[in-house]
Amino acid sequence: MENPQVFATGALPGQAFARLAEAAQVACWPGPGGPPRTELAAQLARVDGLLCLLTDSIDAGLLAAAPRLRVVSSCSVGLDHVDLAAATARGIPVGHTPGVLTETTADLTLALMLAAARRIPEADGFVRSGAWVPERRWEPGMLLGRDLHGATVGLIGLGAIGQAVARRLAGFGCRVLGWTRSGRAVPGVESVALPALLAAADFVSLHIALTPETRGLLDAGRLATMKPGAILVNAARGGLVDEGALAACLANGSLAAAGLDVFADEPVAPTNPLLALDNVVVAPHIGSASIRTRERMADLAVENLLAGLARRPLPACANPEFASR
Ligand code: DGY
Repeated sequence: MENPQVFATGALPGQAFARLAEAAQVACWPGPGGPPRTELAAQLARVDGLLCLLTDSIDAGLLAAAPRLRVVSSCSVGLDHVDLAAATARGIPVGHTPGVLTETTADLTLALMLAAARRIPEADGFVRSGAWVPERRWEPGMLLGRDLHGATVGLIGLGAIGQAVARRLAGFGCRVLGWTRSGRAVPGVESVALPALLAAADFVSLHIALTPETRGLLDAGRLATMKPGAILVNAARGGLVDEGALAACLANGSLAAAGLDVFADEPVAPTNPLLALDNVVVAPHIGSASIRTRERMADLAVENLLAGLARRPLPACANPEFASR
């Protein structure tokens, strides 16, 4: 029997692709950037499997025009770019990559907390720009930041990544507050209502999926209730926060700083007001970007794809309906 046809919207690191190529005929979009929708539609009209990235929008219209599609596998844990309900309705299992990126993303969250609180990019720029001259010698009031150790940190979302962040914060002697929509209890985390978390936390960190219910969760009203001088960290999804309102809070000093790995629109536009602020530390969605973790994500994405092509249960299936089939 002929090998199944697969379209990959981008290359993956490590050896995963080579394993996939042994079992399938793989066409890989060469870039730069991702395939336009017309190309995705043309490929989906002919393939049995799709390997996609979080930058590809796989909507109901595309899935409806994919008569042979047996599986969608995204090299990401988040699936806000895939219409899961439409895939389920068409009987298509959707694979993702939970677990393997948890600790790496938690590491990056702590890095953002520390970089924002201790003004690391500003300090780096100060030295590199030649501003650190004898006339501007070391001074007790120079580049003062805020402490993470001993702070009260509010975690919005206590899934695997939120819990991994909480474990790290225990080592910093932090008081950790947590809010989840399900009310999940986690050892070492005080479960509180969202308004109480926002009012009390010196740092607020987002670890919740982007869904229609959570989009804009931190809107202007909620941002205004955050503790004065607090720091916001987001390594989850940009759409959880009203970026215009956040920029206003950071510009008027009601919030001290932000550490942002994600944006509502990616790549972020150079005109985004957040980029004009010195008290914002930014990164281009690198939460899971360690060599080892990206290889593990690629491996799991390919395992999911191969399982779906063989009509076996996916090792990490996002549609609850198909998870154990
Ligand atoms: C994901 O996997 O959803 C992250 O945002 C990137 O690793």
